[in-house]
Amino acid sequence: MSNFDQLLSVDRIFAIYNHSVAALQGVSLSVRTGEVRALLGANGAGKTTTLRAIANLLGTQRGSVTSGRIVFDGLDVLKTPPSTLVQAGLASVLEGRHVFKSLNVEENLIVGALARGSRRSELSADLERIYALFPSLLPKRKIAAGLTSGGEQQMVAIGRALMSRPRLLILDEPSMGLAPIVVKGIFETLRALNRNDGLTILMAEQNAAIALRYADQATVIENGTDVLSDTADALRRGDYVKEFYLGSNVSSGIKREAGPQQPSAVSASDELQTIAAE
Ligand SMILES: Nc1ncnc2c1ncn2[C@@H]1O[C@H](COP(=O)(O)OP(=O)(O)OP(=O)(O)O)[C@@H](O)[C@H]1O
Ligand SMILES: [Mg+2]
Repeated sequence: MSNFDQLLSVDRIFAIYNHSVAALQGVSLSVRTGEVRALLGANGAGKTTTLRAIANLLGTQRGSVTSGRIVFDGLDVLKTPPSTLVQAGLASVLEGRHVFKSLNVEENLIVGALARGSRRSELSADLERIYALFPSLLPKRKIAAGLTSGGEQQMVAIGRALMSRPRLLILDEPSMGLAPIVVKGIFETLRALNRNDGLTILMAEQNAAIALRYADQATVIENGTDVLSDTADALRRGDYVKEFYLGSNVSSGIKREAGPQQPSAVSASDELQTIAAE
């Protein structure tokens, strides 16, 4: 891989919360321009912390990166204010489907444009583009975002991030808590943005089955360390995901520490079987 292709590189980052709790212990990954990369791992593996570090937002959670380096498009992320990162093209949808509940749908979208400092003339074209991507938002544009459905709130959160015209979009668990049909629609839209507009995407997902369907590449983290990076196809076919999700003891070549079965593994396992049967 040539370094010129790399839009984001995360090099052996260690992170802590509250000056003591070790959350990341040497996570490395890179994202090439134009790819969709999934970041997979069980509860508490460190997915959200990794994304917060990439957006330089760990400080908002009393966390910090203690060593390692993150570079986005030539910028030293850990020395760059989050707002400057947004202006440079790095947008994030981190807090689940966080929306400003009392603002209406359109006002929420406009907040995303303000983050970039968009000109008034660009605003209506950008709004039109979001409504074209998520048509169900158009009739709800004057409704308080807090009164819309979970799926619509996720669309608003993604739409708001897109209003800053990012080159890299990072998403934390876009599927969380949403019905499968809604999840499918959102992932189809993300894939279209990638294929048609060249948007580069990094998404954390516990739901490996759906993430591996839409990603080109994937990185798995366990206990704050990346343990595997490969193409999504290879991970779908390989033993690792079967072991990871089905809890079977098939040989993966990767040593895992014994631990309690994650509660989410049950539903993910069901979904994996459903998808495998399709
Ligand atoms: N705000 C916080 N304050 C203190 N510790 C935290 C905080 N957020 C996460 N942690 C801890 O950091 C570690 C990594 O958590 P993180 O939320 O990054 O994992 P995750 O992979 O996103 O998990 P999940 O799938 O449950 O969202 C865990 O031990 C977690 O308890
Ligand atoms: Mg998380």
